[in-house]
Amino acid sequence: MKKRVFLNASAAAVLAMCSAAVMAQDNTFKIGLIVPMTGQQASTGRQIEAAARLYMAENGNMVAGKKIELIVKDDTSIPDVTKRLAQELVVNDKVNVLAGFGITPSALAVAPIATQSKTPQVVMAAATSSITQASPYIVRTSFTLPQASVSMADWAPKNGIKKVVTLVSDYGPGIDAEKFFKERFIFNGGTVIDTLRVPMRNPDFAPFLQKVRDANPDGLFVFVPSGAGAAVMKQFLERGMDKAGIKLIGTGDITDDDQLNDMGDGALGVVTSHHYSAAHPSPANKKFVDAFQKANKGMRPNFMAVGGYDGMRVIYEALKASKGQGGGDGLLAAMKGQLFESPRGPMFIDAQTRDVVQNIYLRKVQKQNGQLYNVEFDVIKDVKDPGKTK
Ligand code: PHB
Repeated sequence: MKKRVFLNASAAAVLAMCSAAVMAQDNTFKIGLIVPMTGQQASTGRQIEAAARLYMAENGNMVAGKKIELIVKDDTSIPDVTKRLAQELVVNDKVNVLAGFGITPSALAVAPIATQSKTPQVVMAAATSSITQASPYIVRTSFTLPQASVSMADWAPKNGIKKVVTLVSDYGPGIDAEKFFKERFIFNGGTVIDTLRVPMRNPDFAPFLQKVRDANPDGLFVFVPSGAGAAVMKQFLERGMDKAGIKLIGTGDITDDDQLNDMGDGALGVVTSHHYSAAHPSPANKKFVDAFQKANKGMRPNFMAVGGYDGMRVIYEALKASKGQGGGDGLLAAMKGQLFESPRGPMFIDAQTRDVVQNIYLRKVQKQNGQLYNVEFDVIKDVKDPGKTK
């Protein structure tokens, strides 16, 4: 009799312990954030992590009765590492969402894992058009290269730039930038003299820039990934290409807010097209930039930070709307169609494509309060990704 009571009591204790563990698990909502924190793309990880933490500090870590846990992993921008980390996060940590992805090959490497495990994959950085087609579980909060490039191809020929050379990093986003810029530029009556592609890893721009100088175009259109813009700018100026009358144009990746202020006055006047500038004149952006700088020793947020901040917003709101019910599919459904004001301006997650629809701005590097900024002077509203096949 006594023995039985003892057994029952211990069984009850074990049961209580188990259900406490289950409850703890149930009450936690895990976001696996995979970004490059070291290597060539380290600034992307630094910006996205800082923005994600800011979003959490501003919005709390309890959503729909669940405690949000952010698990940050450094993939060093090696797609095999991204894939392994995603597998571990899904299988061992049982994350509810995968997020981050600094470069296109990393985002693509994880797509099959998102599909198989029905885990939403929020792409906060990578920007090749086709990424959202790699898995029905992908949602993007960054931008696409066709979105940004087409707007530049409309602006340049109307502003005296009729003959160009293009220079892009030789992988997904660079190929997109080249293709969509070129097609639209030619359609608008321009001439593309040459299309140059530089290796994505450890590029040496010097021989390519020499070729551009020899071709003597009106303009040089450039795409390089965030973090590489300063090197292009330095070598462009060192070769006196601006003095030779060649206008540097491109997507906003080259005048990246993370590096712009250190590029020097040689960057003044460079016109780019992009979805985000730290100088975007809205109260929402001013609040974001001030809070970001305050929390990060004065670091200026760039477009990667905004992709991370808005990505967290999309996740939080999806959890709220689905009340934590329905697993990955419930979350995904609640991510589709979100429409809100981002620090970049209005932003919409197209329910059909799961891609971002947003304004693209034309900006010129100017000095404001003694610092270099991309100052917006024109806007093309509500741009859908032109790269989506119909
Ligand atoms: C990408 O790899 O998709 C990528 C990376 C950095 C950028 C844009 C695109 O600035």
